[in-house]
Amino acid sequence: MVKVQLKTDNSLEKNKKIVYRCHKLQDILRNLKVEMKKYYIKTFGCQMNVYDSQRVAAILEDLGFSSASSIRQADLVIFNTCHIREKATEKLFSDLGRINLIKQERELEGKKTIIGVIGCVVQAEDEQIAKRAEYVDFALGPLTYHRLPEILAKIERKIGETIIDTEFPAESKFDFLPNNSSNGGCSYLAIQEGCNNFCTYCVVPYTRGIETSRPIEDVIKEAQRLVDGGTLEINLLGQNVNSYHGEDVNGKERNLAYLLNRLNEIDGLKRIRYTTSYPADVNDELIDCHRNIDKLMPYLHLPIQSGSDVILKAMNRRHNSSQYLDIIARLREANPKLGFSSDFIVGFPGETDADFQATLDVVDKVKYIQAFSFKYSRRPGTPASVMLNQVEEKVKKERLAILQSKLFDYQLKFNKELVGKVLPVLFESKGRHQGQLVGRTPYMQNLHADADKGLLNKIVNVKVNEATMNSLSGEIV
Ligand code: 5AD
Ligand code: SF4
Repeated sequence: MVKVQLKTDNSLEKNKKIVYRCHKLQDILRNLKVEMKKYYIKTFGCQMNVYDSQRVAAILEDLGFSSASSIRQADLVIFNTCHIREKATEKLFSDLGRINLIKQERELEGKKTIIGVIGCVVQAEDEQIAKRAEYVDFALGPLTYHRLPEILAKIERKIGETIIDTEFPAESKFDFLPNNSSNGGCSYLAIQEGCNNFCTYCVVPYTRGIETSRPIEDVIKEAQRLVDGGTLEINLLGQNVNSYHGEDVNGKERNLAYLLNRLNEIDGLKRIRYTTSYPADVNDELIDCHRNIDKLMPYLHLPIQSGSDVILKAMNRRHNSSQYLDIIARLREANPKLGFSSDFIVGFPGETDADFQATLDVVDKVKYIQAFSFKYSRRPGTPASVMLNQVEEKVKKERLAILQSKLFDYQLKFNKELVGKVLPVLFESKGRHQGQLVGRTPYMQNLHADADKGLLNKIVNVKVNEATMNSLSGEIV
């Protein structure tokens, strides 16, 4: 295994020079007669990973690669990985095994395949990757993928061992990436990365590092570029997005509410969302944004994780259930149309039947319109993984089934109540059936309708005719 460490320090100027040299490498690579020209990126996990994959694709396209329609055709295969729960890691190793077979088959045809792994699993398990999958050519943590051109150049020089870079660099990757262009009507825009909350079950502070925010003007410029390229809806991303504190041109720290007001001024931008928020960081100014900014969609993902105050304390969350419910009430008062979603963990160490019941009670109070729920998964290195009062798998499974059944009931009820109503839908892609388009409602539901493909990337009024738990269908009015 070769570990690469670019020499970086806190001098931005020096770091810019170093990465400039990487960009020079891009020119060299472009001029080389390299045969590897197609890439395939498989993305696991959260929206931040989807955004990161889009940016990695932009780097590769800058280097002269184009996207392959299948792994079989790709000269460079990249897995962007998620470490949040156990299953994802095991699935990665089994997928890598399959890719290695394809790599060997392609070798028989005289074609070379480079395999790379990026993202959170790399940060947590770099040695494991090198040991268990020695055919992996490179592995980059989530904060270093802007160094990809340099890594690819090294591979071209046939180092022949897995190159691993899991540094928490002094430079921000965002300063060195090619410009982000629009990916159609809806685009993600990362404004904040990392987390300082250290919930006792979560790996994010260890894999994505401490919290950093991008400067206001960088975000505004990227948003403007996206809108110029046809984006109508921007979803601002961050692991802890509402603790955003980016600097303005005068070096003054500004919060998410300020940024939302600035984005509201961009002509042509029709819809704004932000995710994921931390309840204790919802302040009055942000609540006012939901009152005053029409572009802010009436859907908010605000994870509570558990309804039990004992469990919330053991999770090291900075809110209890009544504080959470109070925030929801204040947001509802600001915009009565708001619908909420949440993440839930069942079977956290020490969770009793009464604790679990408290979670069900919160669901009955908030009546979520969508939700994500998980069995607690022991993540090595996190405080909760060594707590002695772990909950049996069987109990976790039963609780998850009960919780999901309740969540699904509320979701279906909300969707059914929309039947007969007219919603503005942003059409994003073609549907499964001929002549059908799929779009997104203000509440993040998928909606199918018969529609001319000229309506793609447009916001159109649609009357809802049918509703299931996962989608709506309707007709254009
Ligand atoms: N086990 C189960 N779920 C987890 N999450 C984070 N870490 C764990 C874990 N160890 C869930 C939380 C978080 C979401 C992204 O993933 O609910 O909000
Ligand atoms: Fe993980 Fe908690 Fe940070 Fe969310 S707030 S990323 S759950 S540590």
